[in-house]
Amino acid sequence: MRWSTWWQVLLVLQGSLAQSITPTVCDDEFCRCDAFTRVICNCTKAYAEVTLRPDGAYRVPSTCTGIIIDGCARVSFLPDTIRNLIQLRNVEIRNVQHVIINERALSWSPFPRENDINPGIRIIINNCTIDDIASHAIQGRVNDIIISNNKIKNMRPFSFSSLTGVKNIELRENDFENIEIQAFKKFATLNFLLNGGTIRTLPSRFLSDVEVTNLFHMEGVTVNYLYSSTFLVSAPKRVLIENNNIVTLEGDAFHMVTRGPITFRNNSVTNLSKGAFFGITVDLEISSVMGPQELLIDNNTVTHLTPSSLIFNRTRLTQRIDGLNLNVSCTCELTEEWRELMKSQVGTINCWYELNNHYVSLPTYMDSRCGAFKQNFWIFVVIGVVLALICVAIIIFFVVRRENEKKKKVQIVMPDGKTYRETEFHIVVERAELLTTDL
Ligand SMILES: *[C@@H]1O[C@H](CO)[C@@H](O)[C@H](O)[C@H]1NC(C)=O
Ligand SMILES: *[C@@H]1O[C@H](CO)[C@@H](O)[C@H](O)[C@H]1NC(C)=O
Ligand SMILES: *[C@@H]1O[C@H](CO)[C@@H](O)[C@H](O)[C@H]1NC(C)=O
Ligand SMILES: *[C@@H]1O[C@H](CO)[C@@H](O)[C@H](O)[C@H]1NC(C)=O
Ligand SMILES: *[C@@H]1O[C@H](CO)[C@@H](O)[C@H](O)[C@H]1NC(C)=O
Ligand SMILES: *[C@@H]1O[C@H](CO)[C@@H](O)[C@H](O)[C@H]1NC(C)=O
Ligand SMILES: *[C@@H]1O[C@H](CO)[C@@H](O)[C@H](O)[C@H]1NC(C)=O
Repeated sequence: MRWSTWWQVLLVLQGSLAQSITPTVCDDEFCRCDAFTRVICNCTKAYAEVTLRPDGAYRVPSTCTGIIIDGCARVSFLPDTIRNLIQLRNVEIRNVQHVIINERALSWSPFPRENDINPGIRIIINNCTIDDIASHAIQGRVNDIIISNNKIKNMRPFSFSSLTGVKNIELRENDFENIEIQAFKKFATLNFLLNGGTIRTLPSRFLSDVEVTNLFHMEGVTVNYLYSSTFLVSAPKRVLIENNNIVTLEGDAFHMVTRGPITFRNNSVTNLSKGAFFGITVDLEISSVMGPQELLIDNNTVTHLTPSSLIFNRTRLTQRIDGLNLNVSCTCELTEEWRELMKSQVGTINCWYELNNHYVSLPTYMDSRCGAFKQNFWIFVVIGVVLALICVAIIIFFVVRRENEKKKKVQIVMPDGKTYRETEFHIVVERAELLTTDL
C-alpha cells in the first residue's frame, strides 16, 4: 500500500475517533439514549437543566428517533436542534418548569419534496411552564401538535408557521399570558382545537391564513378579550364554538370561509360587539352545491349587546337563534329594540325578569306587560284609586253634614199641643202676664 492511502485511512480513523470521543447529549448528566436511539432526559434533581443543540459537544445524535424530556427545571432547544435528525418522529416535553424554544429550534423539513406521505413528527408538551416559543420555532413536516396543561408566557409572531401535512393542533387547558399577532401563520391542518384554559387576550390574526380542512373547535375557554379578525380561517367543514366564557368579543372576530355549518352554543359573553359574526361566510362551491349553510346561535348568555351584534352576511349563510339570554332586565323599550329580530327569529330571545329572578321570553313579556294600555296600567290604577277616594270623601262630607243638620233641628212642643219642626231656632220670649183680679 502506498503512503498516501495509509494517510487516508489514518485520517478517517482519526475522524471517527474524534466523533466517538466528543460527548453527545446521551452523555449528559441527566440524559441517556435507549436502544431505539431515543434521547431520554428524566431529571430527578430539582436544579437539572438540559440544553438541546444540533452540533458540538453534547449535541443530539443524528440517529435520534425521539426526544423525551421529563421533570427538568429548565430545558432549552437551541436553533436548528432537530433540522438534520431525519429519523426523528417524536418530541415530548413533560413536567418542566421552564421551557424555551428558540427560533427554528423545532424546524423539521428533511425531505426535499413536500409530500404528506413522508413521515412527520409529533410534538407533545404537557404540564410545563413555557417561557418562550420564539418566532418560527415550530416549522415543517409535523403531524400533530398537542400542547396541554401548560402555562405559556410568550408566544411570538409565526411561532407555528410553514407547517405541512398537519393533522391535529390541540391546545388544551393552557394558561396563556401573552400571545402576539400571527402566532399561527399560513399552513393547513385537518383539525384545530382550542379547549379549556384561560387566555387574557386573543390578538388579531392569532390564526392567520390557516386552512382548517375538517373541524375548528373552540370549547370551554375563558377569554378576556377576543380581537377583530382573531381567527382568519378558511375551509372548515364544521365550526363549533361552545361553552366559552368571553368578556369582550369584538366585531368580525371570526373571519372565516367555511365549508359547513357554524354553531355558537352555550357561551357566556359580556360584551358582544356589533358584527361579531359578520366575518363568517361560506365557500362558494359548497353553497352552490349544498345550499346556504347555517349559523346556529343556541343557548348563549350575553350582557351587553344590540341586535346589530347578531347581523350576519346573508349571501351564503342563514341564521337560527335558538335561545339567546339577554342578561338585561326586561323592559318594554328592550322589546321595542328587539322587535324586528323577534319577528324574523321564531326561536326564543329571553330577558331577565327581576320579579321572578329568571329569564322569560321577550314575546311573552311584551304580550303581558307592554302596549299602550298595559304600560300605563299602573297609572290607570292610581288614577282610579284617587278618583274613588275623592268620591268617598265627597259622600262622607255630605252624610256628615246631613247628620249635623238633623241634630240642629229642635223639636218644640207648643202649648197648643202641636209639634212644630223649625229649621230656625227662634227664641220666643214668653211674656207671662200676671192675671189681675181687677178684670
Ligand atoms: C422518569 O422517571 C419517573 C420515576 O423515576 C418515571 O415515573 C417516568 O415514567 C420517567 N419518565 C420517562 C420519560 O422515562
Ligand atoms: C407538573 O409538573 C410539576 C413540575 O413542574 C410537578 O411538580 C407536578 O407534579 C406535575 N403534575 C402532574 C400532574 O404531573
Ligand atoms: C353549558 O355551559 C355551562 C357552563 O357555562 C356548563 O355547566 C354546561 O354543562 C354546558 N352545557 C352543555 C350542554 O354543554
Ligand atoms: C365591556 O364590559 C365592561 C364591563 O364588564 C365594560 O366596562 C366595558 O365598557 C365594555 N366594553 C365594551 C366595548 O362594551
Ligand atoms: C344553557 O346555558 C346555561 C348557562 O350557560 C347552562 O346552565 C345550561 O346547561 C345550558 N343548556 C343547554 C341545554 O346547553
Ligand atoms: C358577504 O359574503 C360574500 C361572499 O360570501 C362577499 O363577497 C361579500 O363581500 C360579503 N359582504 C360583506 C358586506 O362583507
Ligand atoms: C349578568 O349580568 C350581571 C350584572 O349585570 C353579571 O353579574 C352576571 O355575571 C351576568 N351573567 C352572565 C351569565 O353573564
